[in-house]
Amino acid sequence: MPGERGEALIKEAISKAFQGNRRLSVLQLRKKLIKAQLPRHVAIIMDGNGRWAQAKGLPRVLGHRAGMESLREIVKLSSELGIRVLTVYAFSTENWKRPQEEINVLMNLLCEYIQKELDELHRQRVCIRTIGHIEELPSKVRSELLRSQKLTADNDGLIFNIALNYGGRLEIVDAARSLAVEAKSGAIDPAMIDEALFGQRLYTADLPDPDLLIRPAGELRVSNFLLWQIAYTEFWSTPAYWPDFQDHTHFLSALIAFQKRERRFGGL
Ligand code: FPP
Repeated sequence: MPGERGEALIKEAISKAFQGNRRLSVLQLRKKLIKAQLPRHVAIIMDGNGRWAQAKGLPRVLGHRAGMESLREIVKLSSELGIRVLTVYAFSTENWKRPQEEINVLMNLLCEYIQKELDELHRQRVCIRTIGHIEELPSKVRSELLRSQKLTADNDGLIFNIALNYGGRLEIVDAARSLAVEAKSGAIDPAMIDEALFGQRLYTADLPDPDLLIRPAGELRVSNFLLWQIAYTEFWSTPAYWPDFQDHTHFLSALIAFQKRERRFGGL
């Protein structure tokens, strides 16, 4: 029937738009990648850990553990490909609403990740940074983060930026407050405040804006992530869950899809 046929065609088109090159092997995908046209900054909303676990009849926390494995793979791959900055959304200001037990698991996983990966990341010359209100995290997490940042501060490889207790609106409020304080003290004239100066008061002041934002689990929301910085970022989503990113195909597909986009930044 035409109706059914139409529906099938729409489904196919959506699936293609979502998945791009997903059926190709990692090797084929890597061949398609144009090394000279990689995004400088990739941002990821690591979504779908819970649904991945649920679909397999596992507890949600195992989904987060599998998500940690994806993170390990994607950081290594980004570093090896020569991507300049990778920012991942690991814990939002809204995630405190989750059950305490799940929050504890996430905090412990973060410590475990650093303990297991730090030497290797340092060897790869990865520079670890964070954005967000780190001072409100448990002291064990803060000290592991501090240790990893101190050790890798001078590394000239991938900047691995972890958003923790991060909210995009809070970041904008923090920037506005710091400019207000400077204006009140007379250090700046309010008339000087423009987009460039505002950008310098954000947590990402010295980083380029993300070129590509990846969101797994089929969600088409921004969820309070890098609100200012993603004004002209290319968005890519897939129905695959974040733990499925372990095999590299989704991440490589996102990079290839990015390379086919025409970016006009509001021009023609
Ligand atoms: C969202 O998926 C994911 C998170 C809130 C946490 C992301 C954390 C990890 C990937 C674990 C490892 C992190 C580090 C920094 C080592 P969700 O659980 O909300 O998924 P759902 O929407 O399917 O429930």
